[in-house]
Amino acid sequence: MRLYTNEDCMRYDFNIPLTFRHRILFERDVFAPGNPVLEELLEKRAGTKVFVLVEKALAEIDPELESKAVSKAREVLGGDSVASQVFVGGEDCKVDESVYNAMCDAIADAGIDRHSYVFAIGGGAFLDVAGFAAATVHRGVRLVRFPTTTLSQDDSGVGVKCGINKYGKKNFMGAFAVPYAVVNDFTFLHTQPEDIRRGGLVEAVKVALVKDAAFFAWLEDNVAGLNALRPPVLEEAVERSAVLHAKHIAEGGDPFESGSSRPLDFGHWAAHKMEQLSDFELSHAKAVSVGLALDCVYSVKKGLLAQADAERILKVLEGLQLPCWDDLLDQTNDEGRRTVLAGLEEFREHLGGQLTILLLKEPGVGVDVHEMDESLLEEAIAELRERVLQVA
Ligand SMILES: NC(=O)c1ccc[n+]([C@@H]2O[C@H](COP(=O)([O-])OP(=O)(O)OC[C@H]3O[C@@H](n4cnc5c(N)ncnc54)[C@H](O)[C@@H]3O)[C@@H](O)[C@H]2O)c1
Ligand SMILES: [Zn+2]
Repeated sequence: MRLYTNEDCMRYDFNIPLTFRHRILFERDVFAPGNPVLEELLEKRAGTKVFVLVEKALAEIDPELESKAVSKAREVLGGDSVASQVFVGGEDCKVDESVYNAMCDAIADAGIDRHSYVFAIGGGAFLDVAGFAAATVHRGVRLVRFPTTTLSQDDSGVGVKCGINKYGKKNFMGAFAVPYAVVNDFTFLHTQPEDIRRGGLVEAVKVALVKDAAFFAWLEDNVAGLNALRPPVLEEAVERSAVLHAKHIAEGGDPFESGSSRPLDFGHWAAHKMEQLSDFELSHAKAVSVGLALDCVYSVKKGLLAQADAERILKVLEGLQLPCWDDLLDQTNDEGRRTVLAGLEEFREHLGGQLTILLLKEPGVGVDVHEMDESLLEEAIAELRERVLQVA
């Protein structure tokens, strides 16, 4: 549409409509011979190839995994246009560009074009790096994610973001890119170390708190089964959380986060800062748990959330053996300022625009605020410190 002219300037604005199909599957043993899920999922054309990226920790747990995934891709595509490689995962693979660069090299060597597929099998950190490689090679090739941790199945793997850390900052480089599909294979859940298997439930607690009071009540009722990592309850929590995350992305009106409000990042301003302060030794799950606890107690201090509701939330976190405190909350810089507070400005910078933090009014109901009161944050930190000392 021709909008505006004067002697020097003519302006034409065009709308570019884009719709993405976000396919999320829940399955077991997807690479088993005869399992039809991938056959039905993948669109095949002449020359379609697959490159399989496997996280090293998984290849060690199941030495057959890589060959099973390759055989399945061959079964689906026919021919031998399938290659694979194992890469290291965990947060270490995100801290610089080396794994990202190696993955790009490998995808390029395998001749993957924009109609071919990259399969990425691994935890949240691995998928972030593999996703960034897939999003940038040829400006984006088709990615099928196979998340293997609780956190990546119930949150990050069903999202539309990818990236690596840079300048010591979490996820500083990255992209928004909708994967071709996400296959949550529940069999992976049960091989994780127990603390990682349990820890990823923090994102289910988070999404319940900001989106779904009934789900939060279900988590409360099932906290013992979840703590015991009973497979059916764990799987139900993962599925409900994944669907809530995906629904928010698809229907929340801001899939690529152009606005300032980011409800799925509840509790994350402090979490991301603590991860950075710990040199990424503190896991995302544990950092988010502390961040949630802090923002819940702060919500009470701000007069938004009832004390009894905050107590329910802290009990769920504690019931899942998730921390409500980390000593990093007490770390100060040379000027005596609490270092975690710098996370607020970094969070604002990452989002752009006005600082926007989601606080809670009640489980399932959030409210955006645009400033945080440092003296109330001090009180909230003191209360959490006191609580952990009492528990100890
Ligand atoms: N892109 C997003 O939208 C988004 C959202 C939330 C979190 N994240 C990112 O996700 C990362 C955290 O992901 P995570 O919690 O999955 O941790 P992770 O990827 O670091 O994995 C944790 C550990 O589990 C191992 N592992 C993975 N799957 C396993 C399995 N099935 N059995 C045994 N061991 C296994 C890994 O090797 C690693 O040592 C963080 O970097 C975080 O920033 C991204
Ligand atoms: Zn998170």
